[in-house]
Amino acid sequence: MELADVTRARRTPGLVVLEGFHAVKHALRFGGELLGTWTADPAALEVLRLRLAPDIALAAQLVAPDELRQVSPRAQVVAVARRPAQPDADTVLAGPGHVVLLEDPRHLGNLGAAVRVAAAAGAAGVMTTGRQDPWHPDALRGSAGLHFALPVHHLRAPRTGARELVALDPAGEPFEPNALPQRMLLAFGTERDGLTDELLALASRRVALPMAAGVSSLNLATAVAATLYALKLAQA
Ligand SMILES: C[S@@+](CC[C@H](N)C(=O)[O-])C[C@H]1O[C@@H](n2cnc3c(N)ncnc32)[C@H](O)[C@@H]1O
Repeated sequence: MELADVTRARRTPGLVVLEGFHAVKHALRFGGELLGTWTADPAALEVLRLRLAPDIALAAQLVAPDELRQVSPRAQVVAVARRPAQPDADTVLAGPGHVVLLEDPRHLGNLGAAVRVAAAAGAAGVMTTGRQDPWHPDALRGSAGLHFALPVHHLRAPRTGARELVALDPAGEPFEPNALPQRMLLAFGTERDGLTDELLALASRRVALPMAAGVSSLNLATAVAATLYALKLAQA
């Protein structure tokens, strides 16, 4: 594969474009198969690798800075990976651990940050609905490549399997981690409008994270982080 193929790879369903050191690092660390890796500064990349990820082997082809900027204006390293095979959504829902459901997230950086914290907190998977592809390169950059650490699915419509769906909703009942089940489908709404009535109708309960007076809501990814870590710390 050549650097010129990266543009086509962005539109190829079985491929994933990784931009930046952390995305490439996590893809490699979690078993990603890289088909090509390019940098304009191999020495600087090697310094980063030695400092931040001596556990990974990273070999990048040298390309001219202009060529790299044309395919990715800011990244120091760009790679194309095969999109990893993962268990289907029903298998994830049938398994252990909490699953995060993002209803129509709009901002790819938020989406990626939610995947990142889900991976860090040990969630069983992330599912999204709506217009955005959760494997978009900007979401991968936001997750620092941690899409490779857990199943990330894009669903046409929400599915719950046999799980209890718990809606995170600023207008819900107070969030009490110890009173909640061990394996939930935790639903979070879109940035501006929150959860739809259709999704709220699927929920067995609606819970709210506490906020100081006058604050309307948390940022989506922040709400995912606060929820998963409150559960993790309570259930540890
Ligand atoms: C930016 S908020 C959406 C705000 C929207 N105006 C609302 O009232 O839901 C995005 C999502 O984060 C979650 N969220 C934000 N703050 C929350 C809180 N204090 N308690 C529970 N969920 C919260 C909800 O799932 C919400 O749909």
